[in-house]
Amino acid sequence: MDINTKTQIYAIIGDPVEHSKSPAMQNEFFCKTGINAVYLAFHVVKDNLQDVIGGFKKLEELRGFNVTVPHKVEIMKYIDELDPVAMKIGAVNTVVVKDGKWFGYNTDWYGVFKTLQKNNVPCNVKTLIIGAGGASNGVIYGLQQYGISEIAITNRTTEKAIAVAKQFDINVVDFASYKDELDDYQLIINTTTLPFGQMIPDFKKDVIYFDLKYYLESTPDFCIDGKAMLYYQGVKAFELWTGKIIED
Ligand code: ATR
Repeated sequence: MDINTKTQIYAIIGDPVEHSKSPAMQNEFFCKTGINAVYLAFHVVKDNLQDVIGGFKKLEELRGFNVTVPHKVEIMKYIDELDPVAMKIGAVNTVVVKDGKWFGYNTDWYGVFKTLQKNNVPCNVKTLIIGAGGASNGVIYGLQQYGISEIAITNRTTEKAIAVAKQFDINVVDFASYKDELDDYQLIINTTTLPFGQMIPDFKKDVIYFDLKYYLESTPDFCIDGKAMLYYQGVKAFELWTGKIIED
């Protein structure tokens, strides 16, 4: 694809951003669909977000961008129209620019939803989420959309688990004792920054383990990693930007 004066610009902003798989993936989607656009990664630290946003608002060629850590909440200040799902999740990872207006969406939950679907996870699994950080809201929304209703969350900082549980009407499990109750769950999801092996004593064959991380270290290969989640959040973002559906 030739780059010329008609080339549209898409991007991801975050800190860190250098390991992001999104540029390779989105540029492949643009290539596949014959759209004259490029997708770039911009390293934006917290203190520079406002300035970068100011510049972005003036760029006519910018048609959309992804937002990653640590800007997914802060970016909401600059959005003209917030999608109700992004509002419920409380974070924006996809911005669509149309006629100079910024529309904010969250597609992370869809990545979770499709991961469950692709792995044939049944809806009747009792689920434990370990960690109540930035990613957990999207995970819970994805689980609930999928039809999983028995969900509990545990977190080192209990107040955060309580706040999330209240918002999504799920249960809280005490962080001091959740390891004694693991037998109650058929699906266990690690949303913390620590390896799964540090959060649970052992892995059982009849339990489904899902870790949001892209690469899993010292984790059995029957565990689900974050690759499908990343792919499908990107597929949905691409659809929001271009109206084009990337087939599986
Ligand atoms: P944030 O909470 O700022 O959104 P995050 O990186 O999205 O941060 O989430 C990190 C998650 O990993 C949190 O659930 C965090 O627990 P706290 O909320 O108590 O900080 C969890 N985490 C990180 N280090 C941990 C540790 N050493 N032990 C247990 N949980 C840990």
